[in-house]
Amino acid sequence: LKEICEQPDALKKTINPRIKNGLPDFSECGLTDEKLRSYHHIYIVGCGSAMHAGMVGKYVIEKLARTPVVVDIASEFRYRDPLLAPDDLVVIISQSGETADTLAALKLANSIGADTLAIVNVVGSSIAREAKMVMYTLAGPEISVCSTKAYMVQAAFMYLLAFRVAYARNAIDEEQCRQLISELSQIPSKVQKCVDDQTQYQKVASKLISADSLLYIGRGLDYALSMEGSLKLKEISYIHSESYAAGELKHGTISLIDEDVPVIAVATQTGIIPKTISNVVEVKSRGAKVILVCTDACARELKDGVADYVIEIPHTDELLMPITAVVPLQILAYYTSINRGIDPDKPKN
Ligand code: BG6
Repeated sequence: LKEICEQPDALKKTINPRIKNGLPDFSECGLTDEKLRSYHHIYIVGCGSAMHAGMVGKYVIEKLARTPVVVDIASEFRYRDPLLAPDDLVVIISQSGETADTLAALKLANSIGADTLAIVNVVGSSIAREAKMVMYTLAGPEISVCSTKAYMVQAAFMYLLAFRVAYARNAIDEEQCRQLISELSQIPSKVQKCVDDQTQYQKVASKLISADSLLYIGRGLDYALSMEGSLKLKEISYIHSESYAAGELKHGTISLIDEDVPVIAVATQTGIIPKTISNVVEVKSRGAKVILVCTDACARELKDGVADYVIEIPHTDELLMPITAVVPLQILAYYTSINRGIDPDKPKN
């Protein structure tokens, strides 16, 4: 919980030094605009929450820079003979900088001659030493096994990178880039608001204590975020959960839904909120209890009874929503763990 509460501060430490003259700045590691224009493909590789931060990066880079991004789980990437070339960029994400599969993926990328950029928290770690370029997330030590503030700052880094890639490739102009950076700079106070709202999330967590299985659903960035929410819950509460792209539910998985399977739906992306809400209606009609995590604007328009519990996220640019909306998911997992008598800092295995 201490690390969850440190997130606003960790975000400031990660973001602020990387903004120069109102623009994201990667000069400390030598990642120039010229290089960013030259890469043919961008790969993002990590394990667990680090890979989930990479998923956020993929959505944002592709949306803003119109550049294809492949996200890979390090343990798959290293054994699947990836289609890497020397003119590709491989972004390696790791809190510890020591995860064996992630380190092996980095060594593979180096051996092929691709450019490698490590986004690492622990200074001087193996991954930091091995990568051609390194940027530190500066979140401070993360003692709890399960990643919370590390995920938060890794995701923030993905935004800095996405904005710079888009700017370097002329997909956004300087004014748009400054506007996005200005929104990102305000994110720590919004995350603080979510952290301060934890009593509300604590009440909702009390409804999950006896569940045997849960489903997280969302679309687009909300799906990327659902993956992280589901992992947090599994890891520290030992309740089975799965994250599912909401539109894919009907192709089989909906048969799992009944009154004993709570559903956590995430709906923060304006264009697709009605689609996700229609999935919420489907699972409610099968008896599921639904916790809906959504924007305050979405909450105002909801019809009565659509969801059993609604968690509202303060307004921000919707592209940045995964940074704020992850907080209630972390806190739900935290209190579910505590309510079940588990030590969330040292989960079994
Ligand atoms: C796992 C942790 O074992 O390692 C996750 O439980 C973490 O929370 C993952 O995301 C990757 O670790 P790292 O240090 O490479 O970011």
